[in-house]
Amino acid sequence: MEILKDSFGRKFPYFRLSITDVCNFKCGYCLPNGYQVDKSDHRTFLKIDEIERLARGLSELGVCKIRLTGGEPTIRKDFFDIVKLIKEKPGIKKIVITTNGYRLNKIAHQIKDSGLDGINISIDSLDREKFKKITDHDRLPEILEGIKILQDLNFKNIKINAVLLKGVNDSEEEFNQWANFIKNNEIDFRYIELMQTGDNLDYFKKYHISAKKFIDYLNQNKWIIQTLGRDAGPSKNYLNPEFKGKFGVIAPYSKDFCKSCNRLRITARGDLRLCLFGNTGINIRHLIQKDDQIEEFKDLILKQLNFKKESHYLELGDTGLTKNLSTTGG
Ligand code: 5AD
Ligand code: SF4
Repeated sequence: MEILKDSFGRKFPYFRLSITDVCNFKCGYCLPNGYQVDKSDHRTFLKIDEIERLARGLSELGVCKIRLTGGEPTIRKDFFDIVKLIKEKPGIKKIVITTNGYRLNKIAHQIKDSGLDGINISIDSLDREKFKKITDHDRLPEILEGIKILQDLNFKNIKINAVLLKGVNDSEEEFNQWANFIKNNEIDFRYIELMQTGDNLDYFKKYHISAKKFIDYLNQNKWIIQTLGRDAGPSKNYLNPEFKGKFGVIAPYSKDFCKSCNRLRITARGDLRLCLFGNTGINIRHLIQKDDQIEEFKDLILKQLNFKKESHYLELGDTGLTKNLSTTGG
């Protein structure tokens, strides 16, 4: 079995696959005016048979984990069909999703039945008003209800992500709310440092704060950093024996962040993205049209990987092709 590797020795067992750009939320840092149709791009989102060939090719390249993202992936009518067909690929050991959870209470049973191996839910605050302000949707109660249902169904591997925003959700009170939440819940909660994108410069200037503020809180409250294996990915996790859940921090501006990169991305229209912020974005869609193209498809991915750079150079203000994260799923 081939294993995807780049010229810096990093391995890529993990792909993030966006299946739609459409999102119904209007998160201030991502789609403040809501999803807008891109009139310059007439390509449709990947069809289910294209996704099937993609998953087959990736599994033959030694990829063992696929995350479905968006936009909001559960918006797609064939969402559960996509999960099912990826799940059936022999090499893919884990299929997980990132969702805003907007109808989690309605689809929790289907999620459990689908065999999904994990779910990341974006919740920027446990304060209903703040949640509404950030996302423009008053959906927090339904999302929390959905989480409860999943837990009652014994669904494992629930994670919550929040984007850390200065003056919005970066107070000790907010941190304590999350600590209370994970005290008796086997749920991992992570703050992601706000990233600058092509679209959000003013927002970034106003709300970006270093994750250090949260890390200081963790250190003061006896959370202990977990030493991880080499392929663990970019989240730094913290443990505390008195809590069932873990805390985590994703700090893309920190030194050496890219050293632990273990993922590649494919956008909803079939562009390969070597880095969330990379300038490299060639299309692979033409090679997932027919079953007999699989070797050609695999060759292209292997060749492209040689172009993956060592770092994202974000600190230089280089945001690459990324207008906002709705097209690449964060
Ligand atoms: N910076 C950091 N995180 C972001 N996300 C979306 N846009 C940004 C950004 N500019 C997060 C979402 C979600 C994940 C998919 O990416 O909140 O948790
Ligand atoms: Fe939608 Fe996610 Fe962007 Fe929020 S961050 S607008 S939920 S795609």
